[in-house]
Amino acid sequence: MGKSVSSAPAVFFLFGEHAVVYDKPALVCSIEKRTTVKAEKSSKGYIKTDVEDLSYIKKSINKVREEIGTKENFSIEVESQIPVGAGLGSSAAVTTATIDCVSREVGEKLDKRKIAELSYEVEKEIQENASRSQTYISTLGGAAKIKKDRVEKIDLPSSPEIVIGYDGKSSSTSKMVAKVARLRKDINSVEGLINSLEEICLEGIKAIKSDNREKVGKLMNINHGLLEAIGVSSPSLDSMIWEARTSGALGAKITGAGGNGCIIALSGDRQKIVKNLNKKAEEVFTAKIDEGLIRKE
Ligand code: MEV
Repeated sequence: MGKSVSSAPAVFFLFGEHAVVYDKPALVCSIEKRTTVKAEKSSKGYIKTDVEDLSYIKKSINKVREEIGTKENFSIEVESQIPVGAGLGSSAAVTTATIDCVSREVGEKLDKRKIAELSYEVEKEIQENASRSQTYISTLGGAAKIKKDRVEKIDLPSSPEIVIGYDGKSSSTSKMVAKVARLRKDINSVEGLINSLEEICLEGIKAIKSDNREKVGKLMNINHGLLEAIGVSSPSLDSMIWEARTSGALGAKITGAGGNGCIIALSGDRQKIVKNLNKKAEEVFTAKIDEGLIRKE
């Protein structure tokens, strides 16, 4: 058991994934599924985790060493409720929680925005092209509009009732981001689609602020259509999306990098969507907006 414990939440994109990599806005929210990291100083460091990719944890430890100027080793234990590589920010959660508890373990309580920025640097080193969306929301919690380095917290009039469907598969964010970058280079019209994603996000933010759920749902559907057009959906994601829509969801789209992973649906008749989506998904759960990084001494 580690001495310092931090937990960070999963996040989903209501609007704007991929476009946010090209400096367009995104609307991102944190939910109550969490990754918990325990850290303890130890001469022989080890990492115990069921999270497949250790690179985020190792780079997070190195980031703290550079930032604080320490050569300390750590024993790290990770427990996660977040599916890996599925569009819910599992890497952002493990990165922010690791940076927070490792730095506290050597006596430095970093400001939350600093943690978010260091975590963003880790994601960028691994993914090459990353936005601040997931690391900032995983740290700060709630809902926010993210555009480049501007993070604007949004007070939602009511928590959107979100159902999440998971196809049980994962994909690499860096590969999906690179796929979009290649398409954007090859096909000039892709720029117009990315501009449309920006307009949808801005209209979506207005709709959510005025609690116009029907409009939010319609915009989610259009957002998904554009993500499909830039090649980041798949048969398993599309079949969950159609199941949610035909079960009465106001809107449904992928969340995150796409390829495989999760879809989000705005309900509608929540029970009916959950029941029907279970036929197409490996796992289905409902999501409430939650707070960000939690520190336990
Ligand atoms: C990945 O979960 C979301 C992307 O927009 C990449 C990023 O924002 O870093 C595709």
